[in-house]
Amino acid sequence: MKSKALMLLAFGAVAMFVAGPAWAGDKKMMKPVNYKVVDGYKIPQSLTGKPGDAERGRKLAINRKKGNCLACHILPIPEQPFHGKIGPNLNQVAERYSEGEIRLRVVDPKVLNPDTIMPSFYKYDGFHRILKKFEGKSILSAQEVEDIVAYMLTLK
Ligand code: HEC
Repeated sequence: MKSKALMLLAFGAVAMFVAGPAWAGDKKMMKPVNYKVVDGYKIPQSLTGKPGDAERGRKLAINRKKGNCLACHILPIPEQPFHGKIGPNLNQVAERYSEGEIRLRVVDPKVLNPDTIMPSFYKYDGFHRILKKFEGKSILSAQEVEDIVAYMLTLK
């Protein structure tokens, strides 16, 4: 009898240990990072306080459930057959824009052009009629935004 109770206790502890980090991760996803738009056209500060990873950013740009940038933009990603032409060609985007200007365009391009069809990838509020499952979530996490910004900065 006693050993059964002990086993249950041990099992519970393991379950909590396993569930703990996942739950903490979700919490973090839900809590937006505060960022500052400077002079109305740029976000000079990294959302995570660190530079992103360009290699991961390239993968996110391809991923249809994440950046999906290829749906609307031409990028130097020859292994992907379809590149959209709705937005400007991004091949040399780092020559046209600074890091802060690129970051604002990924985080919330509607600050610059309220009518743009480009999604705001790091936005938590101000949506109308949002699906319940998307409430309080942005398309990209702060880290993913930084990875994409790092990738964009290699395009010159
Ligand atoms: C649904 C289409 C669409 C998607 C998806 C999209 N964009 Fe855009 N993007 C546009 C359009 C259209 C513009 C032109 C600016 C405007 O509409 O105000 C633009 C402009 C930009 C610009 C400024 C380029 C310039 O030369 O002015 C950058 C940088 C950019 N997008 C990056 C991205 C990245 C990175 C992704 C993926 C994370 C992405 N876009 C996904 C449609 C899209």
